[in-house]
Amino acid sequence: MKNIIHITTDRIEGSVSAAELAGLKSEIMAANRMLHEGTGKGNDFLGWVNLPSEVTAAELQTLNECAAQLSGKAQVIVVIGIGGSYLGSKAVLEAMNNSFQLLHKSQSHPIILFAGQNISEDYLYELLEAVKSYSLGVVVISKSGTTTEPAVAFRIFKEEIEKRYGKAEAAGRIVAVTDAKRGALRTLASQEGYATFVIPDNVGGRYSVLTPVGLLPLSAAGVNINELVRGAQDMARATAPEVPFEENPAAQYAAARTALYRKGFKIEILASYDPKLLYVSEWWKQLYGESEGKEGKGLFPASVTLTADLHSMGQYIQQGERTLIETVISINTPKHKVVIDSDAANLDGLNYLSGKRISEVNLMAEMGTMLAHVDGGVPNIRIELPELNEYYLGALLYFFEKACGISGYALGVNPFDQPGVEAYKKNMFALLGKPGYEEQGEALRKRLK
Ligand code: PA5
Repeated sequence: MKNIIHITTDRIEGSVSAAELAGLKSEIMAANRMLHEGTGKGNDFLGWVNLPSEVTAAELQTLNECAAQLSGKAQVIVVIGIGGSYLGSKAVLEAMNNSFQLLHKSQSHPIILFAGQNISEDYLYELLEAVKSYSLGVVVISKSGTTTEPAVAFRIFKEEIEKRYGKAEAAGRIVAVTDAKRGALRTLASQEGYATFVIPDNVGGRYSVLTPVGLLPLSAAGVNINELVRGAQDMARATAPEVPFEENPAAQYAAARTALYRKGFKIEILASYDPKLLYVSEWWKQLYGESEGKEGKGLFPASVTLTADLHSMGQYIQQGERTLIETVISINTPKHKVVIDSDAANLDGLNYLSGKRISEVNLMAEMGTMLAHVDGGVPNIRIELPELNEYYLGALLYFFEKACGISGYALGVNPFDQPGVEAYKKNMFALLGKPGYEEQGEALRKRLK
């Protein structure tokens, strides 16, 4: 089960020796066992660990059928959610979609647009305007069923869809993904008669991409969710506690970043050389930021898309404060082929590249950058994927989840809670005058004068 993805950690050796890395072996293996045995912190949120093998063919079929039904009615599906209820599907969609999908005249699947991931009035206005002449469906996703941002967006889209189609037809165009019993969204969905899918109790938002949270919107967009799950299943086997440390990519990655953190590195930059991976980085930032950033600890997760950001952040990475490590996701084989032709006049002086594919140029940019950054004191971890398809993406997502759980335990935190997220919510509710927050509201308003 080796080599679904390939991880290289030997470019951290200027900072962490192979012996030091091997010294973490028993600790990292123990952390992996804790995830499987449920003996660590936050053990009521470990449903994601065995999730890939627990997704049944029947569940996938139900999801695919519901997605097909909605797709049959809607040219545009607005997916409403935030954080873990949004980033997983957005990440896979961006990676799988043609980058210029919207310019293609015929669409074989509905266009998926997102709402509820911000509270920008202009965003919502422009989205409502943009979908005016398209038939509409909505997937609203919230595990708690009470998060303000998606709740506000849903109120607006519910009104829009009911105004257009009438209440009964609207109900057939809305699907809710939420908790089995709790939350305002569950109550609303039951009363209005929406189709619903459940987010299991023991799966937290940022670990929920392989539940209906991610799978339903992705299936509606034409992504092969069966392959996504198959990739995750194989990665679950490849990162199981029985797999030796040296062969377990999640253990290797967790060990490398843990060792570097303990040496004083503070920031991990996830770098990719394909803009299709931009939202994989956003998903990864949420996963690691919310899982590890607590109790005054944790690597700060940042990201860059290269080579674009070499012309902005590259300067800092090369010569700024030396607290950075860089983890690169590298895709071996692109989906398409573009070759640089020879030019008789060679006015641009690029004939030395003639006959080369763009991906060869990109790979040399990656190799050159890696050596430059390592020379500049930025340790490098490399994660290599054979290609960008559903199977390898499913494997990558599970790989990152598993490594995050292991790293979190090695850090000594509960990787499955997010108590810090509440602070802004309380202040926002108080400032907006939510009943029950009157006193805090008054105190905060004084501070804002
Ligand atoms: O990882 C998490 O649990 C959070 O980031 C949530 O996904 C996010 O806050 C959205 O919550 P909900 O799905 O309850 O609306």
